[in-house]
Amino acid sequence: VIRSAVTGVGSYLPEQVVTNEELSKTVDTSDEWIIERTGIRQRHKARDDEPTSDLATEAARRALADAGRTAADVDMIIVATTTPDMTFPATASIVQRKLGAPVCIAFDVQAVCSGFVYALSVADGFVARGLSKCALVIGAEEMTRLMDWTDRTTCVLFGDGAGAVVVEPREGQGTSADQGILGFALRSDGTKTDLLYVDGGPATTGTVGHLRMAGNQVFRHAVVNIAEAITGACAAAGITVPEVDWFVPHQANQRIIKGVGDRLGLDEHKVISTVAMHANTSAASIPLALDTAIRDGRIRRGDLVLLEAMGGGLTWGACAFRL
Ligand code: ACO
Repeated sequence: VIRSAVTGVGSYLPEQVVTNEELSKTVDTSDEWIIERTGIRQRHKARDDEPTSDLATEAARRALADAGRTAADVDMIIVATTTPDMTFPATASIVQRKLGAPVCIAFDVQAVCSGFVYALSVADGFVARGLSKCALVIGAEEMTRLMDWTDRTTCVLFGDGAGAVVVEPREGQGTSADQGILGFALRSDGTKTDLLYVDGGPATTGTVGHLRMAGNQVFRHAVVNIAEAITGACAAAGITVPEVDWFVPHQANQRIIKGVGDRLGLDEHKVISTVAMHANTSAASIPLALDTAIRDGRIRRGDLVLLEAMGGGLTWGACAFRL
């Protein structure tokens, strides 16, 4: 088994910012309510002519540059998304064309907000089997396309963005001996599909549909499930929770992030939060938060990092790695 490592990280946010104040002009809500219940202050929104693959491609370019790689080196592209440009081809294939990457492996992973953690585990598996030497794992979403803008219980929560990592064999150029992806915990409970879903699709309504959520029920499951997955990923990695330097949670709600932290007794200074600026960008939120904390100097090479997420399915999971 070949151990894989994260060798580059990048992200991209569309230019337009929508504040809570602006939303409160079109739907019955307020800046105070949104901040108090969610921690969200603003979200980014893609232009009409800016599909998910554009955000994904820019994040991928930045991650490749960070890893000292070019598109020509890429042998696998996995895009975690629940908002693909089209039903098919996979957004990964479109990103491949836009990047100018050579013929390689390219496909999408759909596990909603847990998509990035799931996709990373797939890349880790391909690298472990010697089937990939330079994989791009991208979380890219335009959740604003799925909003019912008359539903204040959902439309204030989500945003658009993309983040990407490069995954290579640990023995590759520029990597160190203790670096690498150490362990995963991945879960799904299909009895909970009705708590969080989109009410459309090609094989049901023939429409794209809108996001529907039983918010407080999702909330209740989130804290318990995520805490268990963190413990599970640490056990799989052979580390303890207190050893972790940085927790990079899926950014859905500051109260969920805090609830998980309290349950596990985490030092709040070790928990990265970008939900105020990005809102919930589903599969993009973890690599966006990871990139933010690397760029601002908090997370450094050699640090032990724990990623965790929960989303529609319900799906949830966690991953431990040393950067
Ligand atoms: N502005 C003002 N009032 C609102 C708004 C809003 N935007 N949204 C709901 N309310 C009202 C409700 O109508 C309700 O009013 P009522 O008491 O008159 O019926 C009241 O606020 C309280 O509603 P609750 O749903 O009980 O509020 P809660 O404190 O649970 O917060 C929230 C709602 C923010 C959705 C919360 O449940 C939550 O964050 N849940 C988890 C959702 C989540 O993060 N999902 C994503 C995880 S998975 C993924 O990322 C896809």
